[in-house]
Parts: sequence; structure tokens; C-alpha cells
Amino acid sequence: MTKNIAIDGPAGAGKSTVARKVAQKLSFIYVDTGAMYRAMALYLLRQKIAAEDTAGIEDACKAADITIVHQDGEQQVLLDGEDVTAFLRTEEVGNMASVSSANGEVRRKLVALQQKLAGETDVVMDGRDIGTEVLPDAGVKIYLTASVHTRAVRRYQELREKGEKVFLEKIENDIQKRDEQDKNRENSPLRQAEDAVLVDSSEMTVDQVVEKILTIYRERETA
Ligand code: DC
Repeated sequence: MTKNIAIDGPAGAGKSTVARKVAQKLSFIYVDTGAMYRAMALYLLRQKIAAEDTAGIEDACKAADITIVHQDGEQQVLLDGEDVTAFLRTEEVGNMASVSSANGEVRRKLVALQQKLAGETDVVMDGRDIGTEVLPDAGVKIYLTASVHTRAVRRYQELREKGEKVFLEKIENDIQKRDEQDKNRENSPLRQAEDAVLVDSSEMTVDQVVEKILTIYRERETA
């Protein structure tokens, strides 16, 4: 059986940074499920489908071919064979992903892909519903969070470093809105699995969070 670590939590909690490092330390593959939802959102935006067009999203998503490959340990997302990794982390794509990821058809398709990956390889997988829906039997489940303000500042810095013109207040509002959407949607809402360990990273460095997760993993391994 493969070993799986599930890391869930709201936008900007630091999941991907932490999950990538934990995967490196354990020689597991890091799977960023948010990037899959973003790739689907990019596809829908390119197809000029509106966020409000539920039926259109449901129909169009069936034709999107999303695959994951790893090169030097880094995940690349292929959309219809094209590496779209570099286009995924914009606010436009993120906002569309927040809406389209609530669609049952989109989720069915991507969850199946995620379960297949985790069945084939040892993974650290991050997302919103990994511990609750995708990998309910994961050996370690972490619910990683931080205050809205802390998360907004982190996202702001990340986007500024990439040269995007962004405003902190707008990002804070977007994060709040996205949290609401993610927590209140009908399909797989964001919530902490009963057997997940809650980690609040507001006052922690990345390395402290990584160390905490590795400690939990080692404790479970030897239990
Ligand atoms: O983590 P992120 O910002 O890259 O995620 C983009 C969107 O996809 C976000 O609104 C939540 C959604 N998502 C999801 O519904 N389920 C997941 N497992 C991962 C992300």
C-alpha cells in the first residue's frame, strides 16, 4: 500500500510550500490539487464560459484533458498536452477555480485522477477535501490554517514578486470571499477531517510547520 499525507486548509495558508518540503524530505511525490482545479478553470476561461454558466461548465469540463507529470520532483500540469503550469497562479484563474471547483462534474473528474495518483505512488497531497473525500484513509491528515490577514499578506508578497500589480485590501477581500465559497459550497466543502491535526501557521515559520508534520508522520509510522 502507498503512504499518503493529506494537507487541507484555506487559500494562502502555506499548504503548497509546506507540502513540497515535506515531500522532498520523505522522497514522496508532491501533488498540488489546486493546480488541477486551476487548469480546469483556465480551460473554461479559454472556452469563454462564464462563471455563472453552471450547465456550460458541467458540459465543457468533460472535454478537458488534464494530466500531471513530474520533472525533477516538480509537478507540471498538462492541459490538452500543453504545459500550463506557468499560467495557473493568477487572481483571474484563482477566482474562476473557486467557482468551477464547486461543480460536481469537475470534482468527479479530478478526484478520480487524484485517487489514481495516490494509489500508484507515496504522495503528499494538498487541497481542500483531501482528508475528507479524496484520501479518507490517509495515514496523516493535517488541517493547515492561518488568519485571513496573514494569508493575504503572504499572497500579496508572492504576487508582487512575480511583478503582478495587486492591492492588499483587494486580496484580503478575495480571500475572505473564497473562504466563504469553499466552506459553504454543497460539493465537498472545506472542513477539517475529524482525524486531522489542526496546525495554525500564523506565528510559525515554514520550517517549523514542516518539522511539526514530519514529527507527526514519524510518530504514526512507529505507532
Ligand atoms: O489552493 P488553490 O488556491 O490553488 O485552489 C484553487 C481553487 O480550487 C480554490 O478555490 C479551491 C479549489 N480547490 C478545491 O476545491 N479542492 C481542492 N482539492 C483543491 C482546490
